Amino acid sequence: MEKKGKLIILEAGDASGKETQTRLLYERLLSEGRNVTRVSFPDYESDSSALVKMYLRGDFGAQAADVDAYAASAFFAVDRYASFHRKWGEAYRRGGVILSDRYTTSNLAHQAVKLDNEKARREYFSWLEDFEYIRLGLPRPDLVVFLDMPPEASDRLLAARAKEAGTADIHEKDKNYLHRVHEAYAEAARLFGWTRIACGKGATPRKPEDIADDVYRAALPVLGAEETDVHG
Ligand SMILES: Nc1ncnc2c1ncn2[C@@H]1O[C@H](COP(=O)(O)OP(=O)(O)OP(=O)(O)O)[C@@H](O)[C@H]1O
Ligand SMILES: [Mg+2]
Repeated sequence: MEKKGKLIILEAGDASGKETQTRLLYERLLSEGRNVTRVSFPDYESDSSALVKMYLRGDFGAQAADVDAYAASAFFAVDRYASFHRKWGEAYRRGGVILSDRYTTSNLAHQAVKLDNEKARREYFSWLEDFEYIRLGLPRPDLVVFLDMPPEASDRLLAARAKEAGTADIHEKDKNYLHRVHEAYAEAARLFGWTRIACGKGATPRKPEDIADDVYRAALPVLGAEETDVHG
């Protein structure tokens, strides 16, 4: 029978520490000698993110809401398909641990906010799961960790970064949109049983190392048997 790895996703809105926490968890698992691969979405370095880039810089509409949720979801989904086949499918099939900064779960929040009623959102969720996990054959996550950074704190982290980088994409430019996305993440976390980790209070984020301890604790049960390989 085909072996199957573990897929752990770190999710949150923009500038909530996903990259930081994915890196910290990756380093910790590596230092324990685990077979772990780190990926992130969108896969900006790959050609497969071309349509995502067009969407994020506003080629299809100046505001996120101008672009149909299903169309935008397809852009992000095919990027994952390419990444799975070219970068981490093999490691996953060999039983490795895959850590991902964002996944299908990002569409669930970012695109769902474009649909204005519960029925339309439920329909969208079923379509998305069918499209990515069944039709495209992407693995389902074993654990989704929602890094719940208060929007006021994310705003500050974003502002600091925009100052450094000098650019913001169509999601980042729209604060109201980002705040609604945070709500959508909180709702999705409840609906889909994601593990929520509180990452700050008001505009003040918790220390990255403290958040990392919580993320590690959340991941341990999923990593299961491998843990005993390391310690005993
Ligand atoms: N807990 C924290 N406290 C203070 N600063 C943080 C914390 N976590 C991350 N940062 C800083 O905030 C910025 C955003 O963090 P990071 O890139 O990890 O977030 P992200 O969720 O991956 O962002 P994006 O969604 O835009 O890719 C970075 O400059 C990072 O160093
Ligand atoms: Mg990031």
